[in-house]
Amino acid sequence: MNEHVQTAKTELLFNPLAPEFIRDPYPSYERLRTTDPMHITPFGAFVASRHAEASLVLRDKRFGKDFVDRTVRRYGPQAMDEPIFRHMSHWMLQQDPPDHTRLRGLVVKAFTARRVEDMRPRIQHIVDQSLDRVADRGHMDLIEDFAFRLPVTIICDMLGIPEEHRETFFQNSREGGRLLDPVPLSRAEIDQANAGNAMAQMYFQQLFELRRRSPGDDLTTKLVQAEEDGSKLSNEELTANIMLLFGAGHETTVNLIGNGLLALHRNPDQLALLKANPALITNAIEEFLRYDSSVQLTGRVALEDIDDLGGKKIPKGEPVLCLLGSANRDPAVYPDRPDRLDITRPNVRPLSFGGGIHFCLGAQLARIEAEIAIETLLRRLPDLRLDDGQNPEWRPTFVLRGLKRLPASW
Ligand code: HEM
Repeated sequence: MNEHVQTAKTELLFNPLAPEFIRDPYPSYERLRTTDPMHITPFGAFVASRHAEASLVLRDKRFGKDFVDRTVRRYGPQAMDEPIFRHMSHWMLQQDPPDHTRLRGLVVKAFTARRVEDMRPRIQHIVDQSLDRVADRGHMDLIEDFAFRLPVTIICDMLGIPEEHRETFFQNSREGGRLLDPVPLSRAEIDQANAGNAMAQMYFQQLFELRRRSPGDDLTTKLVQAEEDGSKLSNEELTANIMLLFGAGHETTVNLIGNGLLALHRNPDQLALLKANPALITNAIEEFLRYDSSVQLTGRVALEDIDDLGGKKIPKGEPVLCLLGSANRDPAVYPDRPDRLDITRPNVRPLSFGGGIHFCLGAQLARIEAEIAIETLLRRLPDLRLDDGQNPEWRPTFVLRGLKRLPASW
C-alpha cells in the first residue's frame, strides 16, 4: 500500500512523458528543486534538479557512462543482443575513457572555434537560400521550412554526404529521439529502433565505400582512413560515431532555433529589444539555451559508492539523471527571476551543452548557426508573427525538447 502511494506521488513529481510535462516542464522542475532535489524515480534513478548537483555529476570522475552495465541492468542480460543497444554502446557519447578519449580525439579538430568561424559564410548562404524560397509566400512553418534546413545541410556538408542523397535524409532524420528518454523503451519501440538503425547502417556503409573510393575533405573520409589504419577505430565504431554526429548535429540545433523563436515571440518586449539592437544576438542565444534548452537531461552512473550527493547516498552502479533544463532555472545561480526571458541577462552559462569530458562537441557550431539564423530572420522578415504562439505543438520526446511545427505569417 505504502509503496503504491509512494509511486503515485513520485509519478506526480517527475513524469517526463506526460503531455502537460512536455508542454511545460518548468513548474515540475521547481517542485523538484524545492521539495526533493535528489528525487528517486519509479525506475530507480536519482534525479538531480539543482544546478549544484547536476553540474558536479557531469564533471566528477566518480561518475561515468557505464553504458553496457546500465543497459543490461535495465533490459536484462540479453540487452546487448539488440542491434540498437550495441550500436549506441559505440557512441563516444556513451563511452568512458580511454575509449572516449580515443574516439573524441579523432574528430575534435573539425569542431574548433576557428574551423567553425570559417563556416560563417556557408551558414549565411544556406539561411538566405531558405528565406529566398519562402519570402514571397507570406507564410511558412518555421521548423520545417526554416530551422530544419540549416543544421541538416551543415552536418551533411561536414560528413561529405553527396547532395543527391540528401532529400531522403531530410525526410527521415527527425525520428529516434525516444532512444534518449529516461523511460524504458517498449518491445515495439526497440523493434522499430532496430529496423530504423538497420536501414541507416545500410546507407552509411555505402557512403563509407564511396569515401574509400573517392576521398574528400570531410569527416567520413577522415574516419574511414582511421578505420583502415586498423588500430584507431573498428568498423562498428566508425558507423556508430558517424551516425551519432549526424543525429546530434541537427535535431538539437533545429530545436534551439525553434525554441528560441517561440520564446522571443512570447516575449514581445525582448523581441523588440533584439530587433532594435541586433548586437545582442550572442547573449540572446545563451539566454535561449538557458531559458528553454533543446536538451533537457543527460545522465551518469556512480562508478563507486558516493557518501553524499545533495544529502543522498548513491550506491555504486546507480544512475543519476541531471536535469539541465532545471539547473538552468535554479535561482541559486540565476537570482534575478530565472523564469523570465532576459536577453541582456549577465553571466549566462547554461548547462545545456553538458560539462566535463563529454561537453558538447558541436556547441560553438550550434551557437553560430542559431545566431545567424535568428538574426537574419528578424532582419529579412521584420513583420513575421507566429500564427499561434500560445499553443504550439511539441514533439513527444522529453530529453530532446522541440516543436513539431511553428507556423508563422508576414
Ligand atoms: C543546441 C544544440 C546542441 C545542444 C543543446 C547539445 C547538447 C549536448 C549535450 C548536453 C551533450 C553532452 C551529453 C553528456 O554529457 O552526456 C552533447 C554532446 C555531444 N554533442 Fe551536442 N548539442 C548540440 C549541438 C550539437 C551539434 C551541432 C553537434 C555536431 C555537429 C553535436 C555533437 C555532439 C557530440 C558528438 C557529443 C558527444 C561528445 C562526447 O561524448 O564527448 N551537438 N551535446
